[in-house]
Amino acid sequence: MNLVYVFLSLIIALHFTPNEAKCHKNTVAFQNNLTLSRSTLKVHCKSKDDDLGDHFVKFQDVAYNFSFHDNVILITRFKCTLWKGANLEYHKFFQAYEGDPYCRCGAMYTWEARDDAIYFSTKGTVEKLMYSWIKD
Ligand SMILES: *[C@@H]1O[C@H](CO)[C@@H](O)[C@H](O)[C@H]1NC(C)=O
Ligand SMILES: *[C@@H]1O[C@H](CO)[C@@H](O)[C@H](O)[C@H]1NC(C)=O
Repeated sequence: MNLVYVFLSLIIALHFTPNEAKCHKNTVAFQNNLTLSRSTLKVHCKSKDDDLGDHFVKFQDVAYNFSFHDNVILITRFKCTLWKGANLEYHKFFQAYEGDPYCRCGAMYTWEARDDAIYFSTKGTVEKLMYSWIKD
């Protein structure tokens, strides 16, 4: 085999090999912006494999967040429940993240709890109203 061919194949293989260092993890964050009620926000997220447990975010605390790589074989999905209110009487269950079959890298999904509803934004986009709270 031609040496140049071997060398070129090697370069091409290296170039297209998935590289963890290049593919930054995706992050999902939950912000408490419950300006009027100043209620604590409770967050509980799960994927098929992981139960991330209960997390409490006080008003204007740093966002609760977690990071992960998209699963190459099975689509990564995180489903979360948020609660707010003096007795956590308001809640909403929704899919907070769905992976891309081609593996997304370095995404930042921000879910913001406001008194009126739950808003969503990604890097550089304006928050969009996504879900209303459900009262017990
Ligand atoms: C918090 O919510 C208010 C509306 O209730 C909005 O105007 C403001 O931009 C939000 N702040 C942050 C940090 O997202
Ligand atoms: C994620 O949480 C860590 C602490 O657990 C915090 O230092 C960091 O600022 C948070 N990042 C975002 C993007 O909210």
